[in-house]
Amino acid sequence: MTTTLRTQVGILGAGPAGLLLAHLLHKAGIDSIVIDGKSRDEIENTVKAGIVEAPAAEVLAKSGASDRIYTEGQKHDGIEFHFDGQAHRFDFQNLVGKSVYLYPQHEVLKDLIATRIRDGVPPLFDHLAGAVLDAETAQPRIVGTTRDAEDFEIIADIVVGADGSGSIARIPVVGSRGGFFREYPFAWYGVLVEAPPSSDELIYSRSDDGFVLISTRDEKVQRMYFQCDPNLDASTVSDEQIWQKLQAGVSGTELKRGPIFRKDVLRFRSFVAHELRKGRVFLMGDAAHTVPPTGAKGMNLAFSDVLWLDQALRSFFATGSEALMDAYPTNALERIWKAQHYSYWMTTLLHTTPETTEFDKRRALGELSLLTSSRHAQQYLAEGYVGWDYGVDDWD
Ligand code: DHB
Repeated sequence: MTTTLRTQVGILGAGPAGLLLAHLLHKAGIDSIVIDGKSRDEIENTVKAGIVEAPAAEVLAKSGASDRIYTEGQKHDGIEFHFDGQAHRFDFQNLVGKSVYLYPQHEVLKDLIATRIRDGVPPLFDHLAGAVLDAETAQPRIVGTTRDAEDFEIIADIVVGADGSGSIARIPVVGSRGGFFREYPFAWYGVLVEAPPSSDELIYSRSDDGFVLISTRDEKVQRMYFQCDPNLDASTVSDEQIWQKLQAGVSGTELKRGPIFRKDVLRFRSFVAHELRKGRVFLMGDAAHTVPPTGAKGMNLAFSDVLWLDQALRSFFATGSEALMDAYPTNALERIWKAQHYSYWMTTLLHTTPETTEFDKRRALGELSLLTSSRHAQQYLAEGYVGWDYGVDDWD
C-alpha cells in the first residue's frame, strides 16, 4: 500500500530553508508539503550555529515566522579578533549601522515548525525520501518510506530539495557531475558548556596553536570551538585538554569553566552544486552548497535561495511564466559565491596548519593589521558579517 499525496510544491527537508520557503509560499496562497526523515524532536535539538544576520532576522520577524528573534535573541553589535597577543573590536553599528542576532538555529527551527503547525500544515516528520522522480515532466514525484515502513508518494508541480548536504534531490539535478568542492586540512572541536558567558561579544582568535572561537547561547550555556584534526574522535579528548586548548587561544580572557555536556567535531568543506535546477526540481540551502562554519553563513545564505525561489514560484503559479524559475540559478549563485568567498576568506585568515610557512604567517598578520587599521577594510568585514541585503524585496 502506497499513500499518495498531491500538492503544488513538494519540499524535501524540514530545515530552515525548506520550512521558510513553505511559510512564504503559504502566505502567497500556494500549498506545499514539507517532509523530513528525522523526527520533530531530533530536528529541534540538533546543535548548529548561532548567528542570524540582520537581513535574515528581518525576514524571520517580518514574515511572521519568528516574533522571538528580536525579543529573545541577543543583539550583538560587534565581534573581537585576537591575534599576535592583541585584541581588536569590530564595531558593526559604527561601521555599517547594523547588528547580528545570537539566536541558535534550533530556535529558528522551533519557530518555523510552530508557524507551520499554527497555519494547519505541519511538516511530515519521520518521512524518509528515497528518490525524486520525473524531474523533467510537469508532475515530478517524491517517493519514500515512513519510519513505520509505510510507502508514500508525493506528486507535485514543483519539487524542492532542501534536504541538506546528503541531498536525495540532488541526484536527478546534477547526476554524476557533483559540484565544485574544496576540503580543508582542519576541523573545529565544538563544546557546549554549562557556565556563564566569558565575554560580552564573540571572540575569534588566531594563534600558532590554532584557531579558537568563544561564542555563547545564553546566560547559562556557552558554545566554544577550537581547531583540531578532521579525523579526531571527539570522545578521546578530556575536559582538561579542552580547557587548555580553549584558554591557550584567548590568553587575555579568563574563561569561565563549567561542565561540558556536548562535544562534536565539525568538518570544513566548501561545495557548490554544478546545477541548481533540472526541469521542475530545484535545489537550495545545503543541498545546493556548503560553506565552512567560520562566520556562520550557512543558514543565512540558505535564506537567499529561499527568497529567490519563492519569488520565482509565486510568479510561476500566478502567471505560468517560467522566466523567474529560469533565472533562479543565476540569481542565487551570485550570493552563493559571495558567501563562499567570505567563508573561505575568514577561514584562511584565522587558521594555520602545519604546512603554513613563515611567509604565510607574516602575510596573514599583515592582512590582519590592514583589517584593524583601515576603516574601509573593517567595513568590508562588517558588511559581510552582518549580511549583505538579499536583493529580493517583494517577499512580504
Ligand atoms: C557560532 C558559529 C560560528 O561558525 C560562528 O562564526 C559564530 C558563532 C556559534 O555556533 O555560536
